[in-house]
Amino acid sequence: MRSHTCGELRLADSGKEVTLCGWVQRSRDLGGMTFVDLRDRYGITQLAFNMETHADLCKEARELGREFVISATGQVIERSSKNKKNPTGEIEILVQELKILNTSATPPFTIEEETDGGDDLRMKYRYLDIRRNSVRQNLELRHKMAIETRNYLNQFSFIEVETPVLIKSTPEGARDFLVPSRMNAGQFYALPQSPQTFKQLLMVAGLDRYFQIVKCFRDEDLRADRQPEFTQIDCEMSFVTRDDVLETFEGLARHLFKAVKGIENITFDRMSYADAMKYYGSDKPDTRFGMRFVELNEHAQNKGFKVFDDAELVVGINASGCAEYTRKQLDALTEWVKRPQIGATGLVYVKYNEDGTFKSSIDKFFNQDQLKTWADAMDARPGDLLLILAGETARARKALGELRLEMGKRLELRDPNTFSCLWVVDFPLLEWDEESQRFFAMHHPFTSPLKEDFELLSTDPGKVRANAYDMVINGVEIGGGSIRIFDKDLQAKMFEVLGFTAEEAKAQFGFLMDAFRYGAPPHGGVAFGFDRWCSLFGGSESIRDYIAFPKNNSGRDVMIDSPSPVDLKQLEELGLALKIKSDK
Ligand code: AMO
Repeated sequence: MRSHTCGELRLADSGKEVTLCGWVQRSRDLGGMTFVDLRDRYGITQLAFNMETHADLCKEARELGREFVISATGQVIERSSKNKKNPTGEIEILVQELKILNTSATPPFTIEEETDGGDDLRMKYRYLDIRRNSVRQNLELRHKMAIETRNYLNQFSFIEVETPVLIKSTPEGARDFLVPSRMNAGQFYALPQSPQTFKQLLMVAGLDRYFQIVKCFRDEDLRADRQPEFTQIDCEMSFVTRDDVLETFEGLARHLFKAVKGIENITFDRMSYADAMKYYGSDKPDTRFGMRFVELNEHAQNKGFKVFDDAELVVGINASGCAEYTRKQLDALTEWVKRPQIGATGLVYVKYNEDGTFKSSIDKFFNQDQLKTWADAMDARPGDLLLILAGETARARKALGELRLEMGKRLELRDPNTFSCLWVVDFPLLEWDEESQRFFAMHHPFTSPLKEDFELLSTDPGKVRANAYDMVINGVEIGGGSIRIFDKDLQAKMFEVLGFTAEEAKAQFGFLMDAFRYGAPPHGGVAFGFDRWCSLFGGSESIRDYIAFPKNNSGRDVMIDSPSPVDLKQLEELGLALKIKSDK
């Protein structure tokens, strides 16, 4: 139907007879001439209608509404007033033939970069939203990421294998989405939270290197970086050590940075979980900036200030150049850390004035010399502001971690175009859950403990470190993985530590333990949050912007209006109607 797209004609094409198809972005009637901006996926080209030579056509063009679908044939000519911002801005099409292929109702919001549509409206009409440049470009970026991921992994002998979507519910991890089985009344499939066990079985099957760009489903509370259905780049390798895995996927990251962002020389640091918590208060530290934690117990305790004396940890950061903060700003910051989401009980500040003196919120308890020792410990210079929290270690670290990020933002140290990559390694294997009084696997139950900690599994399980790692870029957990247990006895031991009886372990994961009886190779792998990686590269905090049809914060698709009630008949077929009736 068309000879060219709306994005490709240039001055060198002048004189050509062309046919373009697309949507009417807007039209301008200047009396003698009418201009229409015609849009398609590739760009916008100006159509010109001349009243003198083609009066009928020109009148027709004036009637075109926004988003009408048209086809226009005419000659490429040089524009008298050029638009340097648009790649096609030096030419226009002098139209000789116009066809209206379809009309359009007035769209509910303007389909331009500066749109008047709010979030909800744009989601309800997502197909119109996707016509906007920035949204379409996000999907193009996602496509490029997927293609380049496949290229890279294919080059290294990974094969893409599809694993099932109707699987089995397991008690570990997040909440499952369940699917009732019609043919097995009263029984349910679960949608996979990840293809974890299947990829391990593919290693037992001898596939050696597997990957899959795959939908995963988790029924958890939603945030900007979480969707109930999201996509992983899921990978597994046999006969590898941790370093083999990390190097392979640093290579993937480097490839993506280069192919998609044009950035070379990306390097990866490695940091233990213990250090990440100690110096950044987070297992996914944003290392684009320093502001590392400094522990001040030895300087700050036993000087008569009860809050510090009673605390397990006194820890601070140096907000460089912030000594100018006013009382009002410091009060606001104190309120900020006291919000329940942050959870600090208060905030101590020490201003290192330009004249070398100190002004603190606890001047009563500490003299200038003492404050100087803090400043030295924190590498502070005149003009800096020390922000200090105290309390139970984990809580103080978490709160200071949040404050550090906030100060980093205020000081513009978190530039979206700078990338700082690292692996956080040696996570704890287990997490104690107070409520259920049991250990949970921090990563998942198939993660191998570090060899040197094997013994502790029986004596002090809370201390065991896992051979697990997360890829963190700019404070975002982009991916995580581990070297797996491949020995059936160790796997049985792990289930035991997690509080499974042998019967429960067999019922839930018998298929895996069985497989481990038949020559399981040593293996390990990783899965990346594909949506997160796209949004990181695209420079947005919300992964929704990189998903064609995302769910809103209540887990709803407002376009197709889902989830929705179903017919009683459907429920009857599934054997669920009786249950619902009886519950009523
Ligand atoms: P994990 O649970 O860490 O590991 O998930 C891997 C990565 O997936 C992304 N992610 C999400 N992205 C969007 N929305 C969500 N709700 C969501 N949940 C997780 C994160 C995370 O790092 N099977 C293991 C991997 C392995 O061991 O190989 C797994 O799923 O970026």
